[in-house]
Amino acid sequence: MSKIKLAILASGSGSNAEAIMKWAATSDIAEVVCVGSNKKAAMVISRAEIFNIPKFTVLKKKNESRESYDERMSGALSEYKPDWIILAGFMRLLTESFLEKFNHQVINIHPSLLPMFPGLDGYGDAFKAGVIESGCTVHYVDAGLDSGAIIEQRIFPMIPGESFEDFKKRGLSIENKFYPEVLEKLFKGKL
Ligand code: GRF
Repeated sequence: MSKIKLAILASGSGSNAEAIMKWAATSDIAEVVCVGSNKKAAMVISRAEIFNIPKFTVLKKKNESRESYDERMSGALSEYKPDWIILAGFMRLLTESFLEKFNHQVINIHPSLLPMFPGLDGYGDAFKAGVIESGCTVHYVDAGLDSGAIIEQRIFPMIPGESFEDFKKRGLSIENKFYPEVLEKLFKGKL
């Protein structure tokens, strides 16, 4: 049986992207066909090189509309014929036409228990708010800000006295395990 083709989009460090590439490398169900970024120097690009996965960047042009950018990005992705687009710290909202082009098969991980703390700094906002538990959410992507249907969430408690840096580091390492686990279950029809 042919494997489900995943394209990863990321803007930064790419620890989640790496965790997904690692999982997919031995998966019987999915493979990563490419890694795309909107940032030239993104660390995720060198992580893709280590896994020998084709990578590309699509840089935003000056004054370019979101529609035009997304059209170029979807064109670059289409070369690899992905079945699903997996966002892993991709710092752009996607347009409805991009989502339609990929049949709304677009997934993201967000560092909060959505619908709480959407936006750029989920861990920071939760920490400042003094919550007693935090978490992360894997969700379908719609054209809004972290507003798509929730697939699965992982809750973890705050540790009294823990610094913000340690809390964020702990959260990210939980995400790195959780994201591939959710994808595995989803693609095996267990969700
Ligand atoms: C993660 O916290 C993820 O939830 C959010 O952006 C961060 C990306 O981290 N969407 P990394 O690039 O995967 O290390």
